[in-house]
Amino acid sequence: MKHFHAAMLFAALAAPATAQEIKIGYALATDSHYGAGAQAFEKSLTESLGDQFTFRHFPSSGLGGEREVLEGLQLGTVEMTIASDGTLANFVPEVGVLGVPFLLRDKAHARTVLDGEIGDEMLAKFETAGLHALAWGEQGFRHITSNRGAVETPADLAGLKIRTMENPVHLEAFRALGAAPTPMAWPEVIGALEQGAIDGQENPLSVIVSAKLAEVQDYLTLDGHVYSSTIILVSPIFWDGLDDAQKAAFEKAADDAVVAMRAYVDDVDTSGVAALREGGMEVNELSPEQKAVFRDALAEPYKAYEAQFGKDLMDRIQAVQ
Ligand code: PAF
Repeated sequence: MKHFHAAMLFAALAAPATAQEIKIGYALATDSHYGAGAQAFEKSLTESLGDQFTFRHFPSSGLGGEREVLEGLQLGTVEMTIASDGTLANFVPEVGVLGVPFLLRDKAHARTVLDGEIGDEMLAKFETAGLHALAWGEQGFRHITSNRGAVETPADLAGLKIRTMENPVHLEAFRALGAAPTPMAWPEVIGALEQGAIDGQENPLSVIVSAKLAEVQDYLTLDGHVYSSTIILVSPIFWDGLDDAQKAAFEKAADDAVVAMRAYVDDVDTSGVAALREGGMEVNELSPEQKAVFRDALAEPYKAYEAQFGKDLMDRIQAVQ
């Protein structure tokens, strides 16, 4: 009997501790760039740490809008998320500079900025906002979709009821272009488009394709007005409970998730337009000269952006090669 108890005790000590569950919430479907990032993260972490953690995915805003999920991380009720910089600017205002239209030239420029000093400085600021940021993911350049017609010049935006993220930088830009922007959390957008409460919205091809916006929008204008990034974040309460080896594995998993997200975005940037045309969308692409007209129309908001974020920071971002 004595031996039996000793054997039981030994077995209990030798057994792996119960796996800790990670609830990960994100706005889009599992077959989106968010899903690709979340799955790559899980795979990498499992390769590094075996069965120490299990993942429970809540795609398609299953835990609510991005702001609510981020508040869950602050409270420690949700362990992980991938969320857009547009929402995150409400937590770390400096991140709002990335939402300045036409500031980032192309994906290569954006990736170099975010992978460098400026990106690292911004990630570090999340600690004081009650969040732990692991790495910059990606959505791609945002374009306009609508049910009212193709957009060729700012005049085509006049009075357009366009949904924007809850982001003052975007609101200001669309107002200056003559549109009637409406800030709205993502989970309400498809319903609002279906009901005609709004005429259009703006998002990258990664979102337009994966959220099947061709079913509710007739026109797509490839204007690439702003680059949209994301951040992979964990709850600081959860993070503080990890040991150093686990933290290193999370950091590696985040890097692997970024690679997967960027690959998804590169792929959809190549194949997305054809798929959307097949889905019935009419697509036009602005020439560099047409884009310059939009950029010039933003001279006033640009002064406000410089006052808000500092001309130095904007110049520093633009100087990155
Ligand atoms: O438009 C937005 O709110 C974001 O781009 C989305 C679709 C929620 C992804 O982060």
